[in-house]
Amino acid sequence: MALGLFVQAQWLVANVAGRNTLSLNGSWAVIVDPFNVGESNWKPIWKDQHATGVHDFYEYAFDNAIGLQVPGDWNSQRNDLLYYEGTVWYKKIFQYQPAHGQLSFLCFGGANYIADVYCNGIKAGSHEGGFTPFQFEVTHLLKAGTNEVIVRVNNWRRVDGIPALNYDWWNYGGITRDVDLVTTPTNYIQDYFIQLKKNDTSHIAGWIQLAGNNGLHKVTIHIPELKVQYTTQTNATGRADIDFTAYPALWSPEHPRLYQVQITTATDTVTEAIGFRTIAVKGTEIVLNGKPIFLRGINIHEQIPQRAGRAYSTTDATMLLGWAKQLGCNFVRLTHYPHNEHMVRMADKMGILLWEEIPLWQGIQFSNPVILAKANRLLDEMIERDKNRSAIILWSLSNETTPSESRDTTLTAMAAHARALDPTRLITSAFNHVAYKNNTITIDDSLSKVLDVVGVNEYIGWYTPWPGPPDAMVWKNPFHKPLIMSEFGGEALYGHHGSKDTASSWSEEYQEQLYKDQVAMFKKIPFLCGTTPWVLADFRSPGRLQPLYQQGWNRKGLLSDKGYRKKAWYVIQKFYGEKENIAH
Ligand code: GCU
Repeated sequence: MALGLFVQAQWLVANVAGRNTLSLNGSWAVIVDPFNVGESNWKPIWKDQHATGVHDFYEYAFDNAIGLQVPGDWNSQRNDLLYYEGTVWYKKIFQYQPAHGQLSFLCFGGANYIADVYCNGIKAGSHEGGFTPFQFEVTHLLKAGTNEVIVRVNNWRRVDGIPALNYDWWNYGGITRDVDLVTTPTNYIQDYFIQLKKNDTSHIAGWIQLAGNNGLHKVTIHIPELKVQYTTQTNATGRADIDFTAYPALWSPEHPRLYQVQITTATDTVTEAIGFRTIAVKGTEIVLNGKPIFLRGINIHEQIPQRAGRAYSTTDATMLLGWAKQLGCNFVRLTHYPHNEHMVRMADKMGILLWEEIPLWQGIQFSNPVILAKANRLLDEMIERDKNRSAIILWSLSNETTPSESRDTTLTAMAAHARALDPTRLITSAFNHVAYKNNTITIDDSLSKVLDVVGVNEYIGWYTPWPGPPDAMVWKNPFHKPLIMSEFGGEALYGHHGSKDTASSWSEEYQEQLYKDQVAMFKKIPFLCGTTPWVLADFRSPGRLQPLYQQGWNRKGLLSDKGYRKKAWYVIQKFYGEKENIAH
């Protein structure tokens, strides 16, 4: 069914958490609509009609409907929705009192995969993409007293989607992240970018963007602990570039120092905790605050294994990143999509560096011209949300895309787009096309030349047999870029013990030996700047069908689906312990 013209969401209000918000989290009434009839004219569920006359009747109703918790995927909330791919209609009632001189915005942390938002029976807009925020101004749609918001969420996979039809994680559908009604003054602080200048620890630079009646307005940035009181003026479009001297204590994993930064105009004030650090590459090294660093990482999917559902809260973020800390990590690759904002803000606080990526994963329809615009919009939404998070050092464009002219053209354009949005951070991508020739492994993906850092996914010991002794492997780096081994590992069912020599045993011993072999190889790669094992914890995946060992779960976790440590966990924990005090 034609979804009609997409009224694309825009980035209307930054730092939702720091704003005046009414949370719409909690139980929403829902109608499960497998054939998507609710979009038709003969059963327009978004109209939420009620029978009035004796001959009226409607074959749907939110009254007496089942409920779903928001935030949260629907698959893990009801057994009859575990495999569900289709439409669910959500409804929430809330009270609202309009006030003169105030704007109101409906702000969604994320909904997978397409969301159409109606406010009091009028369409506010739509959004495509399951892992980035979207916002609509609804001042004109709200009324005093009782209001209702209805959201249609559809998680069908799409050939022109990002991700596309097939991927190795569960297709969790629903309003999977927080929903807030935000109010601001009519003339308000819409957005801002406040970070250290590239390679400069004594200048804070960026910009402030006001919304409302554009024009020349005074803007002040106040950082009390740095005795900074910087005042400037916006231009006619409401924008002010900033650049002032400051000497902040630099944010790092060891000292994740955050500063309260307050931005003020005549009509609005917003405050945010921001860290300041520099990140760069120097030859084949990654340099944090001027010093080479080895990234002791782990891949994390946005899933709580014990709940077998999407992570979405501060509590969830604390647990997942706490596990990473226990492993000895200073770095996390958030796979394969931007995680909820609690995760990124928690990493800022806990001192965990981040790689963040959009879900341009394997079989993407690069020959379709819509893909570049869609991918760049997802980059916009990811970078707009997280550009002030010092923890993030790498924006990643893709995962395991197959080399082709259209792919290279698209990724090259995306790299330029990301750098234009954020000149301070590094650009990377994860590839699995490397050339194996006997004991020599060459990083030969031509896209390496447009990246600052190269990520290689290799599964030697699992999908690829060892060509020779692990410590005899010779890695070639013709593009002379820093290398992060962005995925490696193998499967084991927790508590299942057996041969360390046969992969099909799915034994903890086999996985443990695989990791020992990988570490032996890593020690011989001079340009290796980081490692992120695949993956922190077992996760649900529809393609993992082995009835004894997988049962719909990818078992490459260092932790089981209950959070229990497999033997391989200790191999990495030991490796990271050895690396912790050694500069790269
Ligand atoms: C790929 C992919 C992961 C996937 C993993 C696996 O490298 O990037 O998303 O889960 O391999 O096969 O387990």
